Amino acid sequence: MDQDNLIEMVGVQKSYDGAHLVIPDLNLSIRRGEFLTLLGASGSGKTTTLMMLAGFENPTCGQIMMDGRPIQDVPAHQRGIGMVFQNYALFPHMTVAENLAYPLKMRGNDKTVTKDKVGRALDLVQLSAMAERKPAQLSGGQQQRVALARALVFEPELVLMDEPLGALDKNLREHMQFEIKQIHRQLGVTVVYVTHDQSEALTMSDRVAVFHDGRIEQLAPPAELYDRPSTAYIAAFIGENNGLDGVLTDSSLVLDGGLRVPLPGHGLLPGLRARAMVRPESVRLSKDLSVSVQARVADMAYLGDHTRLVARLDNGNTVVAKLTSGALPEDTSVGAPLVLGWEPEDMLVFPQGAAGF
Ligand SMILES: Nc1ncnc2c1ncn2[C@@H]1O[C@H](COP(=O)(O)OP(=O)(O)O)[C@@H](O)[C@H]1O
Ligand SMILES: [Mg+2]
Repeated sequence: MDQDNLIEMVGVQKSYDGAHLVIPDLNLSIRRGEFLTLLGASGSGKTTTLMMLAGFENPTCGQIMMDGRPIQDVPAHQRGIGMVFQNYALFPHMTVAENLAYPLKMRGNDKTVTKDKVGRALDLVQLSAMAERKPAQLSGGQQQRVALARALVFEPELVLMDEPLGALDKNLREHMQFEIKQIHRQLGVTVVYVTHDQSEALTMSDRVAVFHDGRIEQLAPPAELYDRPSTAYIAAFIGENNGLDGVLTDSSLVLDGGLRVPLPGHGLLPGLRARAMVRPESVRLSKDLSVSVQARVADMAYLGDHTRLVARLDNGNTVVAKLTSGALPEDTSVGAPLVLGWEPEDMLVFPQGAAGF
């Protein structure tokens, strides 16, 4: 066991019905103090993983260790793990202060310690003035801050958050993302955060585990996921990407429909089917790039800081480009011919058969 790891999940499997494994084989180490996000589409196994960490679900197989000790047999309330959910589940008949005192009383803290800790937790989420209110007298954002304070009030080493901001509108959500990050920095607590929102995952996390069909397809810091996706699935899931499918030759990809895209030094076997991927911000209007293709304008949208161009290649593929405003001649119209290009190093090539493609 690596001392830097707070949690280790080894060979964890989960089946709800005894027949189908929703988590086939999960291996995950969570570092002490990190902000780790489980990101994935609905049904990919994020909540199941969190529930097994919390102790509300048992793994069908495998080991979960916290601080080097197996915790499968430790009941949820004895694991010392704080939890925040989307529907905050505050006690409606209790005041904010009473809601925060509850987990402390459960853990046998005396009155003085409880009062002190509740006061500090309220300070942390800037709700000291609301201590005597009932949840119904608070806004959605305030209620979620109480839920956050309640998860932190007993000073757990690990806090699990399952889509905690899902019910909030965009502005409040962004504000709360910032607050949660600040609290994480301030307390140094380990956070495992679940979201299906990739921008939330990228802005908040030290590392992101991308879930796909119950498996972690890639676990990496945000910039690495974006710049060095390990599969075509990740490349398309994180940010936007153009995918061009075809068959490799020594130095090109012959797209379905016959169009040839130069692909110098791709390092894969000729004859393989492959997908080349290039991000919209890497596509430019220039004949002087090593990779260039003939296209026609299919659609354009002026978006202030950039223009979004959808171009159709001769074989029918579309390519989206994010062009700096001014790059397109003003009289450009739908149907106009143009040459699109990009640098070879901005293109990723995935052979068919790699996960997600
Ligand atoms: N209590 C349950 N009983 C049976 N199947 C479940 C249960 N909870 C989740 N599942 C199934 O397990 C899979 C993973 O679900 P879940 O972990 O909730 O995914 P996510 O949180 O990523 O949306 C899904 O196919 C879902 O239908
Ligand atoms: Mg879920």
